[in-house]
Amino acid sequence: MLSRVFFVLTCTLFFSSSLFALQNVAGQKYYLKYCSKCHGAGNRGGGLAKSYEWEEYFKNSGKMILFFHEEEPKALEYLKTDKFQRQSRKIMNFLIEFSSDSANIPSCNN
Ligand code: HEC
Repeated sequence: MLSRVFFVLTCTLFFSSSLFALQNVAGQKYYLKYCSKCHGAGNRGGGLAKSYEWEEYFKNSGKMILFFHEEEPKALEYLKTDKFQRQSRKIMNFLIEFSSDSANIPSCNN
């Protein structure tokens, strides 16, 4: 009985993380559109930093991200807009998901 409850609980967790991943399709799209031309496509972007570092970078309206790109007018074109302010949380979540210390989501159908 207890193991069944545990199984259901694990699967609930799994499905809510899948939902989270689904929402992050937007974050990935923004990353590919605005960051990948300089930082590479696919999963490599998140590998730039660890998850706690990404949270630091995106704090205070992405102040650190802006700072890193002070000499990159092409990057600033986007980073200085309201659009970045609106999309930055999704980009952050996407980067954290693929950051160098992220854990794999366990599967519940084996
Ligand atoms: C026009 C090119 C360009 C674009 C676009 C760009 N970057 Fe960068 N980025 C750079 C350069 C150049 C550096 C400085 C690299 C260095 O100092 O090693 C940098 C540095 C960084 C760093 C610091 C990395 C480190 O070495 O610690 C982070 C984090 C980062 N960028 C994230 C992003 C994100 C997120 C986006 C998209 C919203 C983005 N960048 C868009 C060129 C770009």
